[in-house]
Amino acid sequence: MAHEPIAVYPGSFDPIHMGHMAIIQRASLLFPRLVVAILDNTGKDTLFTPLERVDMMREIVADNEAVEVRRFTGLLVNLMRQIDATIIIRGMRAVSDFEYEFQMALMNRRLYPDVETVFLTAEEEYTYLSSRLVKEVAALGGDVSGLVPETVRVRLEHRLGRS
Ligand code: PNS
Repeated sequence: MAHEPIAVYPGSFDPIHMGHMAIIQRASLLFPRLVVAILDNTGKDTLFTPLERVDMMREIVADNEAVEVRRFTGLLVNLMRQIDATIIIRGMRAVSDFEYEFQMALMNRRLYPDVETVFLTAEEEYTYLSSRLVKEVAALGGDVSGLVPETVRVRLEHRLGRS
């Protein structure tokens, strides 16, 4: 039997929200090994440091044995080659995601022809959800419970000086 492909779900996850959680859950049913790869975009303005994002993600996926969390810098395809992964998982929320996602998928394939990007559709109830909106609502005092895992909500409040 051919060996099972390793799938990578890459992103900034600043912070992780329920839309991401649903994709992780569904991707881990499709692929026996799923690596959540958190971009260490030092220099980019993120609310949480790469280590904090990795930490949160590890806590959240702790009971899913199929999922491993890694931090990466540089090109995603370099990480993929390193760990012998060939599948990239991305969530697709709406048509507005399409162009950016399509460009990335084609560029990644050009850089690493063995790679295949698999798009999973977001859960209907989370199609409007993004990390940017979560941060904005939380920063302005809105309630994000139910939109992010509880540990993220608590850390958001703490980071924004509201607890
Ligand atoms: O969900 P996000 O935050 O938009 O994820 C973007 C991410 C991390 C998948 C993308 O920026 C990426 O892969 N960055 C690593 C650098 C890279 O490989 N760039 C070329 C991709 S076309």
